[in-house]
Amino acid sequence: MIRNIRRNLALFLSLASLALLPAAPVNAAPVDAGAPRMELPAPDKTGGMPLMQAFAQRHSTKKGYSGAPLPAQQLSDLLWATWGVNREDGRRTAPSALNRQEVQVFVALENGVWRYETAHALVKVLDGDWRSKLGGGSLVLLFAAPAANKWSGMHVGSLYQNAGLFCASAGLGNYVHASNASALDGKLPLPDGWSVLIAQTVGIVQ
Ligand SMILES: Cc1cc2nc3c(=O)[nH]c(=O)nc-3n(C[C@H](O)[C@H](O)[C@H](O)COP(=O)(O)O)c2cc1C
Repeated sequence: MIRNIRRNLALFLSLASLALLPAAPVNAAPVDAGAPRMELPAPDKTGGMPLMQAFAQRHSTKKGYSGAPLPAQQLSDLLWATWGVNREDGRRTAPSALNRQEVQVFVALENGVWRYETAHALVKVLDGDWRSKLGGGSLVLLFAAPAANKWSGMHVGSLYQNAGLFCASAGLGNYVHASNASALDGKLPLPDGWSVLIAQTVGIVQ
């Protein structure tokens, strides 16, 4: 009996400590130390459309993208809205099971594929313009997570909804697509067992 209580207490304490973990990037695979880094402006956390109007505007846009790059401020705001840190303890704009934050966001731009780092920066992981192979647009967001984790689909779904609502608010087109998600298989620095589960085209619509 006492042993059971002790065991349950130990289990509770270990789960509680996991839930309180700060946003340590336990999920990030190492990237070449000399990889190019792009500092982004700090996100603008003010303004935007009223939330209910953004819900009313959210929709998929599958055609008509100009391919023109987003201004750096808008790119930073999009990434922060999608999966940025919004509290001092390192928690983010989307929830995650036990706050383990097992999702990585990559962004395919005209000048390479970059990994989003929460301190408002991008680190290059792949050279070249991969956007047309990934669904086109000004950029393509790639959501990677452990494929066998039962929470992963829920996590990436939270992130693409955040991005979709930001796009609605900012007047940008977007759509989520599974069909191109494997285009970069084996090319991104991901922990074992991780893969890109889904992609999201974002862009200026002509
Ligand atoms: C998980 C998921 C996978 C999707 N995969 C594709 C896809 O491979 N190709 C595509 O054109 N649209 C894809 N879509 C977009 C849907 O077609 C679109 O969300 C749906 O038609 C509803 O339209 P709405 O987003 O404007 O409400 C996907 C959406 C989700 C949520």
